This record gives sequence, structure tokens and C-alpha cells, in this order.
Amino acid sequence: MSTDTHSHPLLDVRDLCISFTSRGQSIPIVENMSFSMAGREILGLVGESGSGKSVTAMALMGLIDAPGVTITGSVRFKGQEILGLPAREFRALRGREIAMIFQDPMTAFTPVYTIGWQIDEQLRVHNKFSRKQARTRTIELLAEMGVPDPANTANRYPHQLSGGLRQRAMIAMALSCNPSVLIADEPTTALDVTVQAQILDLMRKLRTTHGSSILLITHDMGVVAETCDRTLVLYSGRVAEEGTTQDLFAHPQHPYTAALLASIPP
Ligand SMILES: Nc1ncnc2c1ncn2[C@@H]1O[C@H](COP(=O)(O)OP(=O)(O)OP(=O)(O)O)[C@@H](O)[C@H]1O
Ligand SMILES: [Mg+2]
Repeated sequence: MSTDTHSHPLLDVRDLCISFTSRGQSIPIVENMSFSMAGREILGLVGESGSGKSVTAMALMGLIDAPGVTITGSVRFKGQEILGLPAREFRALRGREIAMIFQDPMTAFTPVYTIGWQIDEQLRVHNKFSRKQARTRTIELLAEMGVPDPANTANRYPHQLSGGLRQRAMIAMALSCNPSVLIADEPTTALDVTVQAQILDLMRKLRTTHGSSILLITHDMGVVAETCDRTLVLYSGRVAEEGTTQDLFAHPQHPYTAALLASIPP
């Protein structure tokens, strides 16, 4: 795999189309989506509910393999085509190079192991940590996410945690291997504002200390204004508008963008 990050964008998405087949009919969900992300960039992805944000994120993670789904186009990571990569090769990237914070934390964890075990495992597989090193790091990560009593919480099963704690544990798992690209799908929606601010800080820190890029999916234009360098507006499966967050806020071109901005509380 090419590691020459100077000649390629970190992530380059070209003409991505995703459609579902239902009762013999192909229904387009995402149409001709193109964008690219440079290193150390936080790109916001906004758009109304059902516009295809999560489906796009799952496609970038190689996590859509349902029958009846057609994905075409190109997704290049550090110059390498990853769309249609065999499952085994994708697993080597996922978690280590490209990680995701899911909109639904239950998607991230299996119910049968403790959350600590699952974060340990990721650290062991990708970083070759020993069992003991992994657990130490897991507890550290949980503490950084503001999880109280992290050593005990690590020994709990996903269903034994509150939604907010589960979400923080998932964020800990996503950040555990310092991925080059983090896809964060509504990462802070279920959390109260103080924890939300903490999590956004941690994501910015990931960028500064590891040069990571983040695709931040959110409904919260306040979070976009505060966090994202550039922003992409999705409207019914198509890119309606794209620009630096500053330009977009100053001169929205698409009526949907203007409406989104008008909805920010003063
Ligand atoms: N497995 C599936 N089969 C058929 N259609 C699906 C499937 N998953 C999602 N969709 C459809 O794809 C469209 C986009 O859904 P998606 O979850 O990406 O929206 P979203 O932008 O993330 O919305 P939200 O802001 O509510 O999270 C929706 O119309 C949804 O009904
Ligand atoms: Mg979604």
C-alpha cells in the first residue's frame, strides 16, 4: 500500500452512488457524492434526517454488504482503492487506520463481551499490546472520556451501561488506535453539554497529536461552527454545497443551508 500522503489526499471519494433494491426497484440513496479530505482536517457532514449521512459513513467503513445494495464509484484511502476491498483486508484497516463512532453505540459492541475486553482486544490486535498493557490503556482511555470508576466500568457488559456511558466507551474504542481517519456519526448527540465539549476537545486533540482527519456528521450547526474546517451539505443524497465553514456560514448558497443556519439558536 502506498504511504505517500503528499501526492494523495488522505481520503478521496469520487462519484459514490449507493442504492438499495426494494421489490425489484432500485432506490438511489446517495448519488454522485464526491469529496476529499486532507490530513489534519475536520470536515463536517450535515443534512436533513434520511439524506444518507449514515449510509455514506457505513460505506466508507466497508460495512455495507447487505444483498440488494449497490455501491459504485471510488473511495481511495492514501491513494489505495478501498471500495470493494476483500473483508479480510478491510478488517486490517478498520479500527487502526479508519475508525468510526457509530450513531447507535450498540452497533459498535457485541453484547457478549465486556466493553473493557472489546477495547483491549482492539489494542491487542492492532498495537500488539499485552493483555496487561491493553487493560491499562483501556482504563486510561475510559478515564479520558470522563467515565467514572473506569476500572470497574471496563468489566461491564454493554447492556449494563447507560446510553451516555456506552457512547463514551464507544468513543474510547474508536480513538484507541489513533486512527488516521475518524468518522464520527452524531458522536455527542446523546451527551450533556459538558461531556460534549470534552469529547469535541478530545477529537481536536487527536488531530493535533496524531495528525488525524475527522469526518464529523452532526445536526448541530453550533458544533460545526466550532469544530469543522470545511463543511459539506447533503440534501436528499446529493452534495448541495461545500466550502470552508466560514464561507458557508457567511454566504450560504443553497436554500437548505440557509434554513439550517437560520435554525441555530442565537
Ligand atoms: N438497509 C436499508 N435498506 C433500505 N433503505 C435504507 C437502509 N438503510 C437506510 N436506508 C435508507 O437510506 C436513507 C438514508 O438513511 P441514513 O440513515 O443514511 O440517513 P441519515 O442522513 O443518517 O439520517 P439521520 O440524520 O436521521 O441519522 C433513508 O431514506 C433510509 O430509509
Ligand atoms: Mg444517521
